[in-house]
Amino acid sequence: MTSTMAKPLSINDQSYIRIQGGKQLYGTTYTDKSKNAILQLMAASILLQNDFLTLDKIPEITDVFVMKNILSELGLKCTYMNETLKLGGLIRNCTISQDLASEIRASIVLLGAMLTTYGEVELPLPGGDKIGNRPVDIHIECLSELGVDFTISNGVIHGKAKCLPLKGSTIFMRFPSVLATGNLIMAAALADGVTKIQNAACEPEIVDLAVLLNSMGAKIKGAGTNEITVSGVTQLHGIEYEPIPDRIETGTLLVAMVITGGHGCIEQCIPEHNSALLSLLKSCGAQITASPDGYIEIKESRLIKPLNAIAMTYPGIPTDLQPMITCLATQCPGTSTVTDCIYPERFAHVTELQKLGAEIMQNGNKAIIYGGRSLNGAYIEGNDIRCVTSLICAGLVANGETNVKGLKHLQRGHANLLQKLICLNADIDFF
Ligand code: EPU
Repeated sequence: MTSTMAKPLSINDQSYIRIQGGKQLYGTTYTDKSKNAILQLMAASILLQNDFLTLDKIPEITDVFVMKNILSELGLKCTYMNETLKLGGLIRNCTISQDLASEIRASIVLLGAMLTTYGEVELPLPGGDKIGNRPVDIHIECLSELGVDFTISNGVIHGKAKCLPLKGSTIFMRFPSVLATGNLIMAAALADGVTKIQNAACEPEIVDLAVLLNSMGAKIKGAGTNEITVSGVTQLHGIEYEPIPDRIETGTLLVAMVITGGHGCIEQCIPEHNSALLSLLKSCGAQITASPDGYIEIKESRLIKPLNAIAMTYPGIPTDLQPMITCLATQCPGTSTVTDCIYPERFAHVTELQKLGAEIMQNGNKAIIYGGRSLNGAYIEGNDIRCVTSLICAGLVANGETNVKGLKHLQRGHANLLQKLICLNADIDFF
């Protein structure tokens, strides 16, 4: 199923949507492919050295286009047509420009592939962003153990391999960072000997990267567990690949349906990737069944109990769903708590939800939500993608009109979310 709804012609900083709240969502929708998986898979194309990687069903989202521009700047041939992304060729330049690198944090995941293939990389520090401090020390420490020298000067990371191929090693990650695990897997794929990554990230996007690389000829075992073993090979070959569905988009659609008391079905998803959220939704009263055939059915969603959610590493509740869960808690009767152990400062949505009348007290990385009260429409704005989707969920349930700004952030990761909500009966207009 693809959306046929018209999109707004162009989105700028002043663009906003007006949501007429109180409409129950119902019907069948679907999930697009995962932004965070695609960004890592795109980085893997660097490892091919003159062969091509074709990625299918790639949504039109800004982060993908920024990554495509970065790869083009490095010298790869990149085309995007009919949702198919083709990447390949040879790198001609190991320097990534400030303008592009600062646009997406995921540019950090180019380090591993560049260093193992070309032995050198210059990447402006991606820096912190709207969800709090995001250092790169784990990336640097772990890649150093494969034989890379790093210096950071004037805000630019300069990495140089002591020799090529890099040397396999046993590496303990002091925190299971997702993109640092991706960097290590890619660097180790073409390294000499065996690399063991201990305390690795287990997120589905890491499994997707390993599946892609193994199909390209790599030898990776254990992805999805906290110990990954990579036996280096000398060369990889091009393939055609379809990334996994976006579990964060699935989760966002689930929250949107449940918060409006709706019912329906989300197709083209992997329910297992949302086990923690499904269990949380059931605990506050939603009746949901998940099918191993790739769909989730919401039979009834009467919120009758408060929730206690802790955002943590997979398979726990993802931090990327924490803002939507905080919003959901405003409609659960009683006192709920939402804690974020990954990004303790990711609570920009709280101030905006308060403008709608939500009673939330924030204390460090924990929000205490006094729920079950009506929200009332207001002008609100999100400064990052997940904050915006949280505010949209709030607008769907608030009385009257809610105007939400920050649509540029939404475009970074969702190609059709608003169109999908409209197809499910949401009353949304673009301005
Ligand atoms: N961290 C460090 N040092 C590092 C790297 C990470 O201290 O060198 C800390 C971070 O500050 C954070 C924690 O480790 O507190 C986890 O960060 P992680 O490295 O796992 O995050 P990431 O790999 O940079 C990806 C997603 C994020 C998602 C996180 C956590 C991509 C492109 N980004 O980031 O997605 O929140 O994993 O699951 O895959 C989003 O889509 O909105 C988004 C922010």
